Amino acid sequence: PVLVVDFGAQYAQLIARRVREASVYSEIVPHTITAAEVAAKNPVGIVLSGGPSSVYEENSPTLDAGILTLGIPVLGICYGFQVMAQQLGGEVSNTGLREYGATAVTLTGDDSSLLGGQPAAQTTWMSHGDSVSKAPAGFDVLASSASTPVAAFASDERKLYGVQWHPEVGHSEFGQNVLENFLHTAAGIPADWNSGSVIAEQVARIRAQVGTARVICGLSGGVDSAVAAAIVHEAVGDQLVCIFVDHGLLRQDERRQVEEDYVASTGVRLVTVDAVEQFMDALAGVSDPEQKRKIIGREFIRSFEGAAAALALEAAAGGEEIKFLVQGTLYPDVVESGGGTGTANIKSHHNVGGLPEDLKFKLVEPLRALFKDEVRAIGRELGLPEVIVGRQPFPGPGLGIRIVGEVTLERLELLRKADAIARAELTAAGLDGEIWQCPVVLLADVRSVGVQGDGRTYGHPIVLRPVSSEDAMTADWTRLPYDVLARISNRITNEVAGVNRVVLDVTSKPPGTIEWE
Ligand code: XMP
Repeated sequence: PVLVVDFGAQYAQLIARRVREASVYSEIVPHTITAAEVAAKNPVGIVLSGGPSSVYEENSPTLDAGILTLGIPVLGICYGFQVMAQQLGGEVSNTGLREYGATAVTLTGDDSSLLGGQPAAQTTWMSHGDSVSKAPAGFDVLASSASTPVAAFASDERKLYGVQWHPEVGHSEFGQNVLENFLHTAAGIPADWNSGSVIAEQVARIRAQVGTARVICGLSGGVDSAVAAAIVHEAVGDQLVCIFVDHGLLRQDERRQVEEDYVASTGVRLVTVDAVEQFMDALAGVSDPEQKRKIIGREFIRSFEGAAAALALEAAAGGEEIKFLVQGTLYPDVVESGGGTGTANIKSHHNVGGLPEDLKFKLVEPLRALFKDEVRAIGRELGLPEVIVGRQPFPGPGLGIRIVGEVTLERLELLRKADAIARAELTAAGLDGEIWQCPVVLLADVRSVGVQGDGRTYGHPIVLRPVSSEDAMTADWTRLPYDVLARISNRITNEVAGVNRVVLDVTSKPPGTIEWE
């Protein structure tokens, strides 16, 4: 792999993704990693990330100096560039001249492999207070800016490179090209990591892990479990059985998409648990959000375990045993929980609709090394239906936490219609790429007066909550075009009986959460 050394802040994950976009596999490691640990991972290249610190600060993060003499090509970015300068005998000084945002740089050096072929004047994105004032001996200075004499340096001989700007952000005009030059030209790493190679590698790994044992997987209808199950099926065929719990809180057409479209495209064996009645009975009379979540979580586990027990009996009758459970854990969860084993470190409520950690199965996690967009690409490569692969995030407790008030079959039906209209219109307007997700919420305990046709109505409001976000931790409300909002509003009030008003939620997160409950 290419190792991305994390000096803090949010840059390392972005760099890791950009390296992968150059078709090279990357992994994130902490800056405390030793040269011996690096060598043990046998990397083909190293990228040192930026970070929020100053190399002058008392406890600023450092790098084991031995890493720079392993003979592995290194690219330092921003803070990583300054750390390199300092360790290699150059100078870093606090010039008092900060650069932040779009910054013009001029390429000054001879064509090096790092910036070769790039225009001499270009715009980069900078964010730094300290500057490299003198390059280490034997290094060429490749670029400068108005306030930074050494904005990039290189030693082609030692295969050590650095840039002050952030090539990983889109605002750096030729940023991706810098990374590609480093990877492919300077370090000579082939561009051979792609969806196909990931699938092949995972299939081999899963076969080795699972052997002839049986495997189960819970499908939610979401992207992660669908892709994880499809890879496992590719590896072990009908040793895998998927369990899909229909709790009645799904959106329009979701059950059919899983049972028909997904099964048709993958050939997985699927068991659906029709638990609608069970969930409705358990939720009757409950309107407190936390209580709803607890009930939905509890009933989900009960349904899943019931189905798993039945499958275990069936397997036992044939002398087989279910030993493994597939989980769609993604790389950001692994990184954020310190790279350890086991389940993701996410807010506890986000586990609602998931499984408990003490299940007696060993985990199969084919997506542990992947980012979300890579999971989608793999799903497409495996031929999964676009309605599933392109799906926006949908919470485990489903529509149950989008009805403010008691959950009833009638209210679910009404919300399903409104939600389907909103989604169809957003898709038709080509806005799916701009929104992270758009919860549609029924305020079942609120009524307002309206007029429709000749009569007075007394109906419920529907709330549209379109948000833009990178990771759901923070979000902003999406500025949707008025004509699209108008169409959604018209259609919902005309087509969904019982709704006489559509309102728009214009709250960012924080202070509002994305969901209303
Ligand atoms: P909030 O409402 O906390 O939501 O801003 C952040 C993201 O998490 C999703 N979400 C959940 N996902 N189980 C889940 O699997 C849950 O209980 C749950 N609650 C919220 C929400 O849709 C958003 O993407």
